Amino acid sequence: MRILIKGGRVMDFESNTFLPRDILVHDEIIEGIATHLSPEQADQVVEAGGLYISPGFIDAHVHLREPGGEHKETIETGTRACAAGGFTHVFSMPNTSPSPDSPDHLRDLFERIKKSACIKVTPIASVTRGIQGEELVDLKALSKEAIAGFSDDGHPVTAVDFVYEVLLNSIETRKPLITHSEDLSTFTVGAVNRGALSEHFGVDGIPNEAEANMVRRDVGILEETSGHLHICHVSAAETVDIIREAKLKGLKLTCEVTPHHFSLTEEVLYEKGSQAKVNPPLRTRRDVDRIIRGIQEGTVDIIATDHAPHDQASKAVGIEAAAYGFSGAELAFSLGYTYLVKPRHIDLMTLLRLMSYNPAKIFGLEGEGEIKEGYSANLTLLDLKASYRVEAAGFISKGKNTPFEGSILHGRVKGTMYQGRWVHEEE
Ligand code: DOR
Ligand code: ZN
Repeated sequence: MRILIKGGRVMDFESNTFLPRDILVHDEIIEGIATHLSPEQADQVVEAGGLYISPGFIDAHVHLREPGGEHKETIETGTRACAAGGFTHVFSMPNTSPSPDSPDHLRDLFERIKKSACIKVTPIASVTRGIQGEELVDLKALSKEAIAGFSDDGHPVTAVDFVYEVLLNSIETRKPLITHSEDLSTFTVGAVNRGALSEHFGVDGIPNEAEANMVRRDVGILEETSGHLHICHVSAAETVDIIREAKLKGLKLTCEVTPHHFSLTEEVLYEKGSQAKVNPPLRTRRDVDRIIRGIQEGTVDIIATDHAPHDQASKAVGIEAAAYGFSGAELAFSLGYTYLVKPRHIDLMTLLRLMSYNPAKIFGLEGEGEIKEGYSANLTLLDLKASYRVEAAGFISKGKNTPFEGSILHGRVKGTMYQGRWVHEEE
């Protein structure tokens, strides 16, 4: 099977520009890239005039909920939602039931992925058995498997010795420690940002220091051990400062931000309440501005969605009891385009790097993150002229919650190709 994608503006990293190119895909592989390729060789010709073509997006942080949370999402619905968001490879977070904390549990997960995923899914294994924080998993055994790294996401790794062990293990295995940074030995569990908002709702707040303290501790350990530490969903201004400084020391320290943390401030909770409850919480203008500056200066390595689908019942309760998080995969590119590129904080090339090239580089994903002859045909077609109103009822994800409900967004994923097959096509 040969597919010719004609006339798109193709992202080219060497020249750091978009080049008018035809792309010929043969089965799973990009066979040719040239200014003109003859349609005669192709079984299917796709007119991509006016569209931008990016390497398939890579999301290092999604919750697919299976096994155990199938009422919220399944590998099938979650990966279809991610494909609609332009993603061709996602890392699944281990807060499932059971969690991938043993080779047996992982084997079961790999089988489910093989059966149901429409794009590539690489599991992240948990740091502790059942994410209970008490018993370290068998790092050696699990590192032999095709996992992206180790995380107890949703919870911090409180035990210092576990952080040491995972970082030391990462030196040889290249399986990073991926942290949800929240200092719960100093601070209580909170529902929203600490300050005016937590007072307004009369609930415990999560201060910036809860995140910054933990990142400071883990960076300190990284300095002693070396290895690879990846910080999830940075939300606080102080955290960006700490990471920037630590990077100057040459540590293998990387971090991600989510679309909601670069686009929304805590004020949306006055209107959206539980719909906008997420951990780490939405914070202040000062934090959002520092995150955007962190993206501009290169402190932030990647954009990851923290796609966290929930059923209505888990969200349609008061702010204190509501579940953290919301579906994010389907809106990610549009949020980046609307909130970062349109206001000229960064250019389109930088946004696409944060969503494809950079995650491929920092997690060592060979043959991904670039459009090159011989690479897997993982491509995302983008229509920058499209605008639309967000309606979660129309999400592919089972999670129909989003604080962006009703927002007008710009830029849209038109099509997603994974290994030479269309996994999403916008009519
Ligand atoms: O918002 C969040 N949702 N934060 C977390 O830490 C966990 C996640 C989830 O699993 O729903
Ligand atoms: Zn998460």
